Amino acid sequence: MAVGRVRVGAVGCGYWGPNVIRNLADLPGFDLAWVCDSDPARLEPVAGRYPRARATRDVADLLGDPSLEAIYVGTPVSTHFDLVRRALLNGKHVLIEKPLATEIEQAEDLARVALERGLTLMLGHTFVFSPPVRKVKQLIDSGQVGPIYYIETTRVNLGLFQKDVSVLWDLGPHDVSILLYWLGEVPTSVSARGRSFHGDTLDDVAFLTLEFPSGILAQVQISWLAPSKLRRTTVVGRQRMVVYDDLEPVEKVKVYDRGVDRQPASFGEFQLTYRSGDILSPRLDTTEPLRLECAHFLECIQSGRAPETGPHTGVDVVRVIHAAEQSLRHGGTPQPVRLSAHHDEAAMLSRP
Ligand SMILES: NC(=O)c1ccc[n+]([C@@H]2O[C@H](COP(=O)([O-])OP(=O)(O)OC[C@H]3O[C@@H](n4cnc5c(N)ncnc54)[C@H](O)[C@@H]3O)[C@@H](O)[C@H]2O)c1
Repeated sequence: MAVGRVRVGAVGCGYWGPNVIRNLADLPGFDLAWVCDSDPARLEPVAGRYPRARATRDVADLLGDPSLEAIYVGTPVSTHFDLVRRALLNGKHVLIEKPLATEIEQAEDLARVALERGLTLMLGHTFVFSPPVRKVKQLIDSGQVGPIYYIETTRVNLGLFQKDVSVLWDLGPHDVSILLYWLGEVPTSVSARGRSFHGDTLDDVAFLTLEFPSGILAQVQISWLAPSKLRRTTVVGRQRMVVYDDLEPVEKVKVYDRGVDRQPASFGEFQLTYRSGDILSPRLDTTEPLRLECAHFLECIQSGRAPETGPHTGVDVVRVIHAAEQSLRHGGTPQPVRLSAHHDEAAMLSRP
């Protein structure tokens, strides 16, 4: 448990890192002590913005600073396992970008190390902290949507093509983390088809179908190869239907009082009646999701509380994406969502 301001360092000043670094620097509870990037062209502009933080190209400088309590890791996916493990072994609390790792065993290993050392390990699953996503969760939990039939989600745009992972590992964790958060369950199986149209091996387009223990179906479409950006999710329940469009400037969530009811007709037959009522758009908190994410990281470090997007979420997301990847390799055949053979239940006990 930390007392007073928490000294934090940030590794990765590329496309995404500076957004998180700005929020870490803005929060009064954090003292941004280090910024790090192996590429000087990426490091210098960020170092110039935060002159009170020390700048380095070598992460070892942060790991070797005994007064540094926490590290944010915003480097490419292929570096996550190694950097997070080193940070934890050096006694640092860690905020890591999605996904936690690309192998289930690696993700479980990081969860175990964090638990053994009593350190906060939190995933930057930003959407879980976004007010529209939280509003949809409230609508589901309050029963207003009714039992959910299916969820359909589209996350496509032109680029950014990643060099080290496919679209599945790049964009997939966003939708999977949202679905796990909303539904509170992990799918039993995943089927996926995908193609690499512009790279040699890394798929740039993927279509996933997830089946949950409750019977809910989810369809996820992700692509780096689309003419325009779409971020749209539809939740279809028995009582209401909800559309969440993250690109809408104000009315990101719309609740439709629409559905189909089965009415008994004569001689034991049924008749379908269509319900088309009001469309409501609930008021949403306008706080930046990354600020809420960083504030939650701070609060977890200070209180010792398990993060909402802790190792358990990180591992579950990796399990689902891993099953999707297996399905891709087997022509779209549904694949079970597994734990590793070495799965340690104790490491999963740190659920919030
Ligand atoms: N939460 C979100 O919405 C969101 C959005 C975009 C990216 N991301 C995640 O952020 C991470 C970074 O993605 P990006 O698009 O910013 O990548 P990027 O390639 O633009 O930036 C990564 C930076 O890390 C640096 N780096 C790599 N290895 C390093 C090391 N060992 N030590 C120090 N610096 C190192 C690189 O020089 C680069 O500047 C990824 O995990 C990605 O999945 C999250």
